[in-house]
Amino acid sequence: MKLSTLRIVALLLLCLAGALFVVSRVVTLTTMRWFERDLALRAQLAIAGARSSLIEHADEPARIKALFEAITHDERILAVALCDAHGDVLVASRDYPKNLHGPSLGVELGDEISHRIVDADEHQIQISAVPLATSGTATHALVVHDLSFVLRRQDVVDRFLLTLFVAFAVCGILALLIGSRLSFRAWTARLRSYVRGETKEPRFRPLLQDLRALSRSIGDQRSSAAGVPWTPARLKQLLRTELMGERLVVIANREPYMHVRSDDGTVRVLHPASGLVTALEPVMRACSGVWIAHGSGNADRESVDASDHVQVPPDKPQYTLRRLWLNAEEEKGYYYGFANEGLWPLCHIAHVRPTFRQSDFEHYRAVNRRFADAVVAEAGSDDPIVLVQDYHFALAPRMIRERLPKASIITFWHIPWPNAERMGICPWARELLDGMLGSSILGFHTRQHCNNFLESADRYLESRIDRETQGVEQGGNICLVRPYPISIEWPLRWPNEAPTPTECRRVVFERLGLPAHAKLGVGVDRLDYTKGILERFHAVERALDRYPELRGVLCFAQLSAPSRSLIGEYQDFDRRVLAEAERINARYATDAYRPILMLRAHHEQPAVLTHYRAADFCFVSSLHDGMNLVAKEFVASREDERGVLILSSFTGASKELSEALVVNPYDVERCADAIALAVSMPEDEQRARMHALRSIVAEFNVYAWAGRMLADAARLRWHERIADRLSPFPRP
Ligand code: G6P
Repeated sequence: MKLSTLRIVALLLLCLAGALFVVSRVVTLTTMRWFERDLALRAQLAIAGARSSLIEHADEPARIKALFEAITHDERILAVALCDAHGDVLVASRDYPKNLHGPSLGVELGDEISHRIVDADEHQIQISAVPLATSGTATHALVVHDLSFVLRRQDVVDRFLLTLFVAFAVCGILALLIGSRLSFRAWTARLRSYVRGETKEPRFRPLLQDLRALSRSIGDQRSSAAGVPWTPARLKQLLRTELMGERLVVIANREPYMHVRSDDGTVRVLHPASGLVTALEPVMRACSGVWIAHGSGNADRESVDASDHVQVPPDKPQYTLRRLWLNAEEEKGYYYGFANEGLWPLCHIAHVRPTFRQSDFEHYRAVNRRFADAVVAEAGSDDPIVLVQDYHFALAPRMIRERLPKASIITFWHIPWPNAERMGICPWARELLDGMLGSSILGFHTRQHCNNFLESADRYLESRIDRETQGVEQGGNICLVRPYPISIEWPLRWPNEAPTPTECRRVVFERLGLPAHAKLGVGVDRLDYTKGILERFHAVERALDRYPELRGVLCFAQLSAPSRSLIGEYQDFDRRVLAEAERINARYATDAYRPILMLRAHHEQPAVLTHYRAADFCFVSSLHDGMNLVAKEFVASREDERGVLILSSFTGASKELSEALVVNPYDVERCADAIALAVSMPEDEQRARMHALRSIVAEFNVYAWAGRMLADAARLRWHERIADRLSPFPRP
């Protein structure tokens, strides 16, 4: 039985019980009054029958007593007595109660018969005073009746009423259940015919408005599937119409603009090397809102206002960057420690052992809380749309949910998610999973990562996994776990007019001192052990070993931004990369030729794009990578449809970019073959492959990524609102 029906049944029972109580009280009081009067009358009759004898033998107490004993043979008369005008008992039958005489008699001794009820030992009695109207001392006869038969009759009546109540209750509940079922059916039939437009019922009008909005939102999704391109304008429109222009609040550790003081004292704005920033920044420019990030530039504090806000992009402000300050200890524990020595190696299969320290996790938890507090402060409403970004904030979704229960929290995990067994290495696996499940939607790049997450939740938490909807239900909260492959803005944005590929090639070749006949490969990465930079170098070396015609021709430029340099593993890796480049160069370099050109520095976006356009091929050899946006940027930069992409099969990107030369970076021989193939690929084949790759990146650009997540969030919001109003209907 549903809760609402239970409530009605309880109300019905309560009403019936109330009615029973009132009826029983009325019946008791009325019958009591009738019985009292009846007994007083009987007393009068009994005395009237004996009146002449009483007058005649007024002076013979023994005769009167005998007469009284005869009267008490009536089963309901307990005793009889005579009293004077003061109530003093003159003569009485054997069982007359001793305490009923004189002032304690309590009945009026007048010319009319009077009576009262007295509580005796275990029962009630009625004493009636019947006037004798004689001139003797005895003025009244007192008749005592036993009332227990009255109580017995009332008991019978009460039991009858109770039976009636039970019968009424059973019939009432049955009638109610059948009636409500029939009327619910009739109501839904009317509602359906109204929704189909067959009838008109004004009371259903608000519901129809909701349904229209919902179908618009579903329609929006469909048109997306139908290939309508996703653009900043379309994303903005989605936010305005489907999400009522709600404010976007993003938390991501890395800030998109960093103010850095150079040695000459001037402040420069840098764009950090981060796939996350590459993807999210164009979305924020389209949607506005606020991006909360760690203010890590050494001149960041000088460029914020009193609320730690700075409007960005600096040349044409479109959204707010809110900087949050971390002290050195917090940064060490939360960022370098738990996030990058713990979670990063845990999630990437790159054979680096994760390090977990209790104190790091405590900092991680505390910093997550600080970011969650900042979200609440920046939200501006109780149901904002919050985008939580990446492995730095696994605990924040739950913390935000506790403070803003109605918020739409979309969490996106930019790196792979390990399988359930590997996840078990982390001593705080449960807390992390629980924290993430505070989200409304949890996104990964690939379905495999989603499946890994669902298995982890299944293994380590008390939760219900719904494989059909890809959702996890935990403590009443449902979190949808879906793949949303990330991408880049399309078309790519150049700060000024984009130089042609020929121009780029000229500039880069000149800068690197390459001869015109050289074949140039590029790699663009942070100096990170997951990127497979050593494997890439080994493939170049092997290509030179096996294809002598490439010696003096093949040059590989590696643009590497130093990264996370306080971590020992990264310092070692940096050294090994430099050493390997030198070793290989030592084998094949000549006065005019070096096969590997190590460009170890931070490169701003235009410089990176220029290298992409200048290259014959781009080599992405990650050992494990959530997506890898270098691959997509290379493709997007090649409007000339030239150049070859060699792509590791262990990147999320390889699932989409199948026209690339997909390789296993651990297989040095095949990688060397891929390099040889790339530098000798006929232009027609290059064009055909690049054309296919470009159409994929153009269609599934970063606006599509954000648009799909926001559309799903909008749909969830509608479901919740409609479900609230139509509680009798099951949740869609
Ligand atoms: C990966 C992570 C990002 C991070 C980026 C750069 O792409 O998913 O969250 O921003 O690496 O790393 P960094 O530690 O410099 O922010």
